[in-house]
Amino acid sequence: TRRAVVIGAGHYLPDRIVENAEFEATLDTSDEWICSRSGIERRHFAAEGETTSHMATRAAEAALKSAGRGADDVDAIVLATSTADLTFPSAATMVQSQLGMTKGFAFDVQAVCAGFVYALSNANALIASGQADRVLVIGAETFSRIMDWTDRSTCVLFGDGAGAILLEAQEGEGTSKDRGILATDLNSDGRYKDLLYVDGGVSTQSTGYLRMQGNQVFRHAVEKLASTAHTALERAGASTDEVDWIVPHQANIRIIQGTAKKMGLPMDKVVVTVQDHGNTSAASIPLALSVGVERGQIKPGDLIVTEAIGGGLAWGAVVLRW
Ligand code: ACO
Repeated sequence: TRRAVVIGAGHYLPDRIVENAEFEATLDTSDEWICSRSGIERRHFAAEGETTSHMATRAAEAALKSAGRGADDVDAIVLATSTADLTFPSAATMVQSQLGMTKGFAFDVQAVCAGFVYALSNANALIASGQADRVLVIGAETFSRIMDWTDRSTCVLFGDGAGAILLEAQEGEGTSKDRGILATDLNSDGRYKDLLYVDGGVSTQSTGYLRMQGNQVFRHAVEKLASTAHTALERAGASTDEVDWIVPHQANIRIIQGTAKKMGLPMDKVVVTVQDHGNTSAASIPLALSVGVERGQIKPGDLIVTEAIGGGLAWGAVVLRW
């Protein structure tokens, strides 16, 4: 069986760190409210002129370096983002040129906070079908550019950043003991568009701001995340007790805890970065994977479940052995 095995991971966070307390100067909010309701303590914001493709390129370079590979070894770039530099070309082709890559192909995937899970699933299919041997999968966002800074219920929750992994085709036995992506599960339901959206776009001739009915999204999150994780594990032929790490989308510590509990797994099996990054949308899972490796949590051979939900609603899970 042809498997898409992770051979490198890296991330990039912009220099500027904003602590919760900074919002107290301009909004009717508090560090205490933000921490207790979301688990977020601080987030990074991109510098003026620093764009999604810049951050994605830094993360991709770090992933290539950790794999001991160069841009010439890459056949494809799949970049998950909802905040590309321009309407077109894709941020992925901008990363391609910034890496100095002149062959292969590159494209963006847009599934908001579920973007990285969607990108991984696409990259896995490219490798499984023989279309590509090595694929850079990146999540990168500058959500600070779509924040309404007068809306305390959204602007304190999000951050900027990028994460990347390099996948390589390797032969496996076809069992759940193989390294690589073992199963994926994707879902969306467009009836829920009004729960989380940006109120502008190209065909409406504006950029717009993020709008969210947070408590409504919350109601869907735990159940849908536990269910998609369960489906992906079943498809992988793996049981929940074999899971070494849940690497969830980092939107809210209470959603992360609720999902782990529903899956019957303790919090010491969850990689948590939400306190330091806030919600970086499609970047949060690759950021958490890279940070998890750096912290010494994630090791080769570990069974990992990633899961995410976001605007659409769109949600999904990927089960992989690191
Ligand atoms: N500071 C102080 N008070 C606030 C703030 C703030 N920053 N924001 C909201 N409040 C107030 C509200 O106005 C409300 O006041 P009211 O009761 O007088 O009306 C009160 O706090 C409670 O608000 P809720 O929204 O009910 O609070 P909740 O406990 O649900 O927490 C949160 C809000 C953190 C947004 C939570 O609902 C959440 O995390 N939701 C899910 C977000 C998510 O997962 N999104 C998906 C991914 S994002 C993507 O796809 C782009």
